[in-house]
Amino acid sequence: MQAKLFTPLSLGDLTLPNRVVMAPLTRNRAKPDGDVPHALNATYYEQRASAGLIITEATQITPEGKGYIQTPGIYSTEQVAGWRKVTDAVHAKGGRIFLQLWHVGRISHVSLQPDGKQPVAPSPVAAEAQTFIATGFAEVSEPRALELEEIPGLIEDYRKAAENARTAGFDGVEVHAANGYLIDQFLRDGTNKRTDAYGGSAENRTRLLAEVLETVTKVYPAKRVGVRFSPFSKFNDMSDSDPMETFTAAIARANDAGLGYVHLVEGEMGQSRDLPPGADIAKLRAGFSGAYMANNGYDRERAIEAVDSGEVDLVAFGRLFLANPDLVERLEKDTPLNEPDQDTFYGGDAHGYTDYPRLEEVAA
Ligand code: PHB
Repeated sequence: MQAKLFTPLSLGDLTLPNRVVMAPLTRNRAKPDGDVPHALNATYYEQRASAGLIITEATQITPEGKGYIQTPGIYSTEQVAGWRKVTDAVHAKGGRIFLQLWHVGRISHVSLQPDGKQPVAPSPVAAEAQTFIATGFAEVSEPRALELEEIPGLIEDYRKAAENARTAGFDGVEVHAANGYLIDQFLRDGTNKRTDAYGGSAENRTRLLAEVLETVTKVYPAKRVGVRFSPFSKFNDMSDSDPMETFTAAIARANDAGLGYVHLVEGEMGQSRDLPPGADIAKLRAGFSGAYMANNGYDRERAIEAVDSGEVDLVAFGRLFLANPDLVERLEKDTPLNEPDQDTFYGGDAHGYTDYPRLEEVAA
């Protein structure tokens, strides 16, 4: 019997031919001048067009949303034109592609910010975390708290970014609310110390998320919008006193918005799948009536089993997709896989990016 992993799934009027998703992956290969996607990026995504769905690398919605060198943006006309080359290339190969909307919040450095200003965050709580700037790794800078009056402008930035994504030809968008970036900083009480309507209770901490989802689903049909959370990850110095309560509330917001899917990083991003005591992914998943996309350390066997059992609807693969442009075909045929090369993950050129061979090239 054919594994369900290789069967279609619909997100509203969009049909994914299989459930093998390319996870969002930061690759730091946009044009340094203006953080613009270019031909090399189009080739990389086009090579992976047989994915059921491609989710792009995290893409900053504004200059202030940037936290690392050479990550692409979606706020300038040059960036929209650059992304259009990417979506055209993927569509010409029969693929589907969502843009991941990103604001890094406190995970940034003054050298990456307009006029060298402080990064923004829900509260002035600095992260013990590093970023990558022009001169190499650096400690992130001290953030300042967003003023209440600035929040409508932030929501407007998300709206414009979603409109730009639509202009650039994306089939949908994923709101990045994971891994310790801005929305996640609002969700969790280790970083959100606000005393206004955006801090305190879980209802208040999920308010920014709800407003972002509300505005983005006015641009795209709700089923073409997904959201990514990492409820139990400590990456980027994150903590929460009650992650089950926080993320039950966050997932309820996604459900109320009628989104196409919720995407969870199960465990520690790119690392352990172990969960802390009391953590219950199935219970979180049960609060969402749309599709469930799982990520973190899935291999062929785990993915087939998780989808066949009905536990999971879609599986997002990061490292494996990075190293295997034809991952869907290889998983389907159960053939050997290329090994990812960690040294070329972040930054550089075509090497370790567009030169991973397809199976027929390995065999040749
Ligand atoms: C990173 O650049 O290290 C990075 C970016 C986005 C993520 C996670 C990690 O969601």
